[in-house]
Amino acid sequence: MSVQGATVPENRLEKTIRKKWLTILAHVGSALPLIYLIWGWFTGNLGVDPIATINNVTGRTAIFLLTLSLTATPINILFGWAKPITVRRALGLWAFAYAVLHLLNFVGLDYGFDLAFLLQDALLSKPYIVVGAVALVILLALAITSTRGWIKRLKKNWIRLHRLVYLAAALVVLHFLWQAKVPERTDPLIYAIVLTFLLVVRIPPVRRWIVLTRQAWSQGAARRGPKPT
Ligand code: HEM
Repeated sequence: MSVQGATVPENRLEKTIRKKWLTILAHVGSALPLIYLIWGWFTGNLGVDPIATINNVTGRTAIFLLTLSLTATPINILFGWAKPITVRRALGLWAFAYAVLHLLNFVGLDYGFDLAFLLQDALLSKPYIVVGAVALVILLALAITSTRGWIKRLKKNWIRLHRLVYLAAALVVLHFLWQAKVPERTDPLIYAIVLTFLLVVRIPPVRRWIVLTRQAWSQGAARRGPKPT
């Protein structure tokens, strides 16, 4: 910071905010739906069917954050901006946390932990629940192995394992689509399109072409120099 030519040293808070603003934004933004649910629960503001509201908010936040975590690498490929990669893990873990709350709401509040009833009423007659459960198991494996220790232990297999995030995301979209009535299928279809795009951008030849085109553009712009004012 500069005041009339003199440089004022940044204080610690300013430095942290400058360096970590995206991390702070990711955590604060991810926590907001949870704060809303806790506030709504204790003030009785979750509508006429609080269990349905919790199911809706946790499910939609989970799929949103999961998709957002998958945009980090494509943003780097498309725009050469690597910073979002630093919040990819945090967003993935938040998505997993919301998915766990989504399950707890279903098993605990909706079915009162009556597992026998749940098994015959939900699991056997509603296949979209099984699809959601498989996605959640994958997300659990990815959350457990997301630490540095596991990255070192699994080496190349870590990358292979974490590619399953795309399978999890596809299963979640299927779960979302399957449980929705026909007129409500727009949102899951939008997620399907966005996820397909994010996956296509990563395919090695497509990725190479995008990076080379971007580099050629920025070199061309640098050669042309600044625009005359
Ligand atoms: C064992 C795992 C899961 C169970 C038991 C489960 C259960 C449910 C149920 C009962 C519904 C509501 C269906 C209805 O209203 O008729 C639902 C909707 C939904 N679930 Fe799941 N789910 C699971 C996993 C997941 C996961 C892993 C995600 C996301 C990461 C997810 C995202 C959603 C979404 C986005 C909706 C639609 C919400 C809405 O628009 O109201 N679910 N799930």
